[in-house]
Amino acid sequence: MKGIILAGGTGTRLRPMTNIINKHLLPVGKYPMIHYAIHKMTDAGVNDILLITGKQSAGIYAEYIGSGEAFGARVSYRVQEHAGGIAHALEMAEAFVAPREKLLVLLGDNLFEDSLRLAVEEFCARGEGAHVFLKKVDDPKAYGVPEIVDGRIVKIVEKPDTPSCDYAVTGLYMYDSSVFDIIRTLKPSARGEMEITDVNNVYARQGKLTHSMLCGWWTDAGTHNALLEAGTRMIGRDEA
Ligand code: DAU
Repeated sequence: MKGIILAGGTGTRLRPMTNIINKHLLPVGKYPMIHYAIHKMTDAGVNDILLITGKQSAGIYAEYIGSGEAFGARVSYRVQEHAGGIAHALEMAEAFVAPREKLLVLLGDNLFEDSLRLAVEEFCARGEGAHVFLKKVDDPKAYGVPEIVDGRIVKIVEKPDTPSCDYAVTGLYMYDSSVFDIIRTLKPSARGEMEITDVNNVYARQGKLTHSMLCGWWTDAGTHNALLEAGTRMIGRDEA
């Protein structure tokens, strides 16, 4: 399995700091945010990782992570020229993934407690499809929200005005390599981005989208409050 960490985007909700440095390099506890995504990958047994960044601060990522050796990983880099959306960033990983190879995809601003090791092993053992991780939240309107019928996700709605439940689809995804064929069929959304929710909805329509719940805490550290919360959780931890 290959690992893809998406760390592009504009970080508008974390301005003004993100005017001068990329969101995923902001401090969370004693490390820059990006540290945790790499650690989560290697903890899950995924050591061959592609990091997709924007142009902003691109050199600082290489300065901090280097080849990945210090993490027990091999880290490669690609630059997303403009923030065309999560699915647009993921599409850039196509050449990195072998035919029929599976992918673990993490959004670089998602910080969480659970280990993904077991879920990765189970996904690798199955034939095809995609898997998402859900978490109960107070503010589902801020996320992709699943519609669940008879225990299956039938549809995900991105940032709904009237959420059907109080679960968020977190930014942790597993895909088979058909994900790239799916992305090619997508059109940009009303906000001009290629949406990962549209990708997941194709798998849902095909009946190939499974899900599980995260048990531990989870934070999308894309806002000042969430960043503060993540820092408080991580401050005493040594993830080296
Ligand atoms: O955190 C979970 C949520 O993440 C999901 O519930 C939503 O379904 C999903 O769309 C996403 O929503 P956000 O509004 O939080 O996405 P955001 O634009 O903040 O981007 C999330 C990450 O993806 C961020 O770490 C940077 C990366 N990204 C984003 C864009 C738009 C890229 O690498 N390239 C991009 O062009």
